[in-house]
Amino acid sequence: MPSDSSLDLTAVAEVVAAHTPFREADIISALQDVQDRYGYLPRAAMDELARLSGLPVAKFYGVATFYAQFYLEPHGKHTVRVCRGTACHVRNAPKVMDAVVRHLGVEDGETTSDMLFSLETVACLGTCFLSPVMLIGNQYFGKLTPDRAVKILQTIAGDDGKSKI
Ligand code: FES
Repeated sequence: MPSDSSLDLTAVAEVVAAHTPFREADIISALQDVQDRYGYLPRAAMDELARLSGLPVAKFYGVATFYAQFYLEPHGKHTVRVCRGTACHVRNAPKVMDAVVRHLGVEDGETTSDMLFSLETVACLGTCFLSPVMLIGNQYFGKLTPDRAVKILQTIAGDDGKSKI
């Protein structure tokens, strides 16, 4: 992940060009496009978005901080969301979470050093019938056991060809 000072801002110019004439209504999709490119919203990219679009940078930060889908800090390639809601809790979710934390070596809200996984907990994923459940990207994994959760993470890491597990 490049640091802000070394960031290639070509992608930001391409995003703004794709939205020209740039209006406030374009902010969300522009932020999504920029995040797709960098994996998060680097400060230099936000400044460049504001400069090229002619809109105040505060407008971009206002949207980026309002929606949970946006990340202002470097974020893992895969977001792992483990449910800590009641239905999952009573079906062993804490043990699943412990296994995930141990396996990834990060706590809730942290990202693995290889930038492959970011770990989050959520109050309910809306799929209580699958409890205990975790969501990785857009894919739900239900009826989890601690072992199964770890195997799923191993498979994803292996599929990315970066497995150190
Ligand atoms: S409590 Fe876990 S999905 Fe609803």
